[in-house]
Amino acid sequence: MNTAMNQLQLREATFDDANLIAQLHTRSWQVAYRDILPAHYLNNVAPVERETLWKRRFHYDNHLWVTLALWEGEPVGFVCVLPDGEPERGILLDNLHVMQGQQGRGIGKRLLLAAAAYVHQHFPGKAMHLWVYEDNHEARRFYSRMGGQMVDREKVVTAADSKAVALCYRWSPEAVAERAQDMAAA
Ligand SMILES: CC(C)(COP(=O)(O)OP(=O)(O)OC[C@H]1O[C@@H](n2cnc3c(N)ncnc32)[C@H](O)[C@@H]1OP(=O)(O)O)[C@@H](O)C(=O)NCCC(=O)NCCS
Repeated sequence: MNTAMNQLQLREATFDDANLIAQLHTRSWQVAYRDILPAHYLNNVAPVERETLWKRRFHYDNHLWVTLALWEGEPVGFVCVLPDGEPERGILLDNLHVMQGQQGRGIGKRLLLAAAAYVHQHFPGKAMHLWVYEDNHEARRFYSRMGGQMVDREKVVTAADSKAVALCYRWSPEAVAERAQDMAAA
């Protein structure tokens, strides 16, 4: 009999997963960002752009760490850590996505805890942070629930070349260590 534990599995991604991750990324943006980024960009530009981005990242970024979430064997989400993304702030978590229809099952939480465990193990004593659009209220509530502290607010130019406001959520080194312990206990 399947339990919730073996329904959900995490697997580290490689270059061979670049297309898959680009598809998950695009699908998630098309839903979560439908009121944030222009529809033309989401439907016509993002798919190709995401594919190029993920191939480039896997090819050139030696410190990239990406983990896929599989629900009953099907890819349903992913998280990416870019240690070189913004080193002056700590370790950047850039992308955490769970597909529509799979949300609310604890998958996002497991991905975030896995990222914290990775940061704690490989970059002990470092903080972890991410940027989220101010208008992405659902994700902001999730990050707050996960213990992230909102520490910064910036006007940004989006991938679609439009203007938006992004917020930085941060986990102190102590909070990263706590989330890593949560992962070990999960
Ligand atoms: C935000 C996201 C990653 C959360 O993943 P998820 O799998 O739905 O979240 P989980 O089921 O793991 O929830 C974990 C906890 O957060 C809470 N939570 C999740 N979404 C929430 C919301 N919108 N409002 C309030 N609490 C929320 C859950 O209730 C749960 O709380 P618990 O630990 O007390 O049970 C997911 O909804 C998503 O991918 N959204 C679209 C893409 C996106 O915007 N990504 C962020 C880009 S910066």
